[in-house]
Amino acid sequence: MSDDKVKCNDVFFFNDLVDVIVDLRNYLVSQNFLGLDYYGPIDNSLWLPPQMPVIMDESKKIHEARYSKAILLERLRKRIGDCQKCRLSETRINLVFGEGNPGADIVFVGEGPGREEDIQGRPFVGAAGGLLDNMIRAMGLERKDVYIGNVIKCRPPGNRNPADDEISACFPYLEEQLAIISPKVICALGKFAAQTLLNTKVPISRLRGRVHSYTPSVSTGERISIPVVSTYHPAYLLRNPGQKKVVWDDLKVVMELAGIVKKRR
Ligand code: URA
Repeated sequence: MSDDKVKCNDVFFFNDLVDVIVDLRNYLVSQNFLGLDYYGPIDNSLWLPPQMPVIMDESKKIHEARYSKAILLERLRKRIGDCQKCRLSETRINLVFGEGNPGADIVFVGEGPGREEDIQGRPFVGAAGGLLDNMIRAMGLERKDVYIGNVIKCRPPGNRNPADDEISACFPYLEEQLAIISPKVICALGKFAAQTLLNTKVPISRLRGRVHSYTPSVSTGERISIPVVSTYHPAYLLRNPGQKKVVWDDLKVVMELAGIVKKRR
């Protein structure tokens, strides 16, 4: 078994363990509620308000899943550390891990950090990021509702295109992020994101307009495959604003797959 597989199994074992602990806690408290305290007294104050019937409602489940995903992402970030897997580590200022809601239904995937992202260590914070923010707002969401990452985590010098070996070195990190978050839909921004996720060389103009699917190389424990909507990169849109209409069409598909009803303002 490869080293990466072992690490991923470890990650999902941890996730399962969290589920077991939560289930056990609920079982014990429900037994207590029914007056069956043959296992001995438990201190409810450690778990839930005293004598609460333990029906775990949906929002609590979502909250706990989000919490454990946040922990897993943090552990992955620590493991990546000061990555030296490719030459981009020699010229980067900051590694740009990605950010957002660990329990997001939508993950946006870009190409890689540009100058501003390299300086700040955050994805999509330059001019293209401003446009991505507007796109997210147009969907009735905020940046904190979604997760934003990139195919590569370090800036190629002079904003050149990422090389194949740099993508091969870095993509497994994104795969782990996607496996942890397990979103309902991935929105691939631009050629590099779409082609890497879909393992194809088909041009973005032909990938967009149809829903494809990303099959995680590691089990997500939640989904066997994740729908991918490919669209033009916001940086391309800045140069070609006439394409905003088709991008909006793509975003509407993303919203539909995520089950989003646009909030009224
Ligand atoms: N372009 C990208 O593809 N990603 C970023 O994070 C910023 C610009």
